[in-house]
Amino acid sequence: MKYCALLRPHANSRYQAEALKLARAELIALLAKSGCGTDVRCETRADTDWLAFEAGALDEGQLSLLCLAAHLYVLFEETEGALRPLRGQNAAYLGEDLPLVLKYKGKTNETFTAFLLNLALCASDFGPDEPLAVMDPMCGRGTTAFAALNRGWNALGFDQDAAAVDEGLKYFKRYLEYHRIKHTASDQSMTAGGKQAAVLHTFRFASTPEAYRDGDTRALTMAAIPGDRLGLVYRKPCCHLIVADLPYGVQHAPGGGRRRPSLEDMLYEVLPVWVELMHTGGAMALSFNVNTLRPEMVRGMMAEVGLDVSDGPGYEGLGHWVEQAITRDVAVGVRRF
Ligand SMILES: C[S@@+](CC[C@H](N)C(=O)[O-])C[C@H]1O[C@@H](n2cnc3c(N)ncnc32)[C@H](O)[C@@H]1O
Repeated sequence: MKYCALLRPHANSRYQAEALKLARAELIALLAKSGCGTDVRCETRADTDWLAFEAGALDEGQLSLLCLAAHLYVLFEETEGALRPLRGQNAAYLGEDLPLVLKYKGKTNETFTAFLLNLALCASDFGPDEPLAVMDPMCGRGTTAFAALNRGWNALGFDQDAAAVDEGLKYFKRYLEYHRIKHTASDQSMTAGGKQAAVLHTFRFASTPEAYRDGDTRALTMAAIPGDRLGLVYRKPCCHLIVADLPYGVQHAPGGGRRRPSLEDMLYEVLPVWVELMHTGGAMALSFNVNTLRPEMVRGMMAEVGLDVSDGPGYEGLGHWVEQAITRDVAVGVRRF
């Protein structure tokens, strides 16, 4: 059977060409995860970008996995030249606009964030239907966390920028209240060596009042804490996937007021901590600016901390132009033991 995916357009035409490459890689990774072939072709119809692939009849599980695709608008089945719409992206657990509403300088694009989540998921040993826990240790105001919550997963977001974390938490509280989503909020002070290491702010909620009443809830935890200190707060694995858009070295210099190590030094410090926080079988997807962090160095560092760096179709050739001074790449690694 032939399937065709109509892709979401992007406002910036230069990025659009790059998005097609990412969309193809993402679909290959999702097809591989769903046990289908990975031969994906780019097609142009009515001056629009499409991706096409052949597969047997897709079951419900395969369809819902493929419809996580960040770049997908509508998936069609093609029979004798006629297109039959199958479905669009999966419904959001809380609300499609959750990761979209907040706009700010330095925000990671929501589609790209969903793409990173997909690569991490596909590389991992976990399936999308388990309520996974996703950690973004450089979460800014929480784009990754909000995208993860919308999949019905749990999310942990940390950043050294206390103001960004606070903004993210305030926004989420307003969102829950505005949409009358039943929830509780709690704070937990974490100490290390007799000193306060962080205050964990947690919201617990559910997509429907019935699910909330039945205890079928999800959680968002956010805290202001630098990436290298997370081991003081969590002493055992707390997440299945780690997704982070690392500072580009353009707008977000690392170190804040504390000190200013190079991005490379910073990565050396945080990676051994992060890998310990991921369950065995979990995967990490990191994006970074190749003008400030060399791709082979990032992958080398991931391998040094024991990650099995993903390569091959879906995981390589992901370098893409974003804007002047920023060419982004993605590295994915799996914790095997
Ligand atoms: C590219 S931004 C990520 C933006 C985020 N994905 C969003 O959409 O809001 C990089 C983030 O890394 C944070 N950061 C830089 N160095 C850090 C460190 N050592 N520990 C924790 N966060 C750090 C910055 O404060 C910034 O929020």
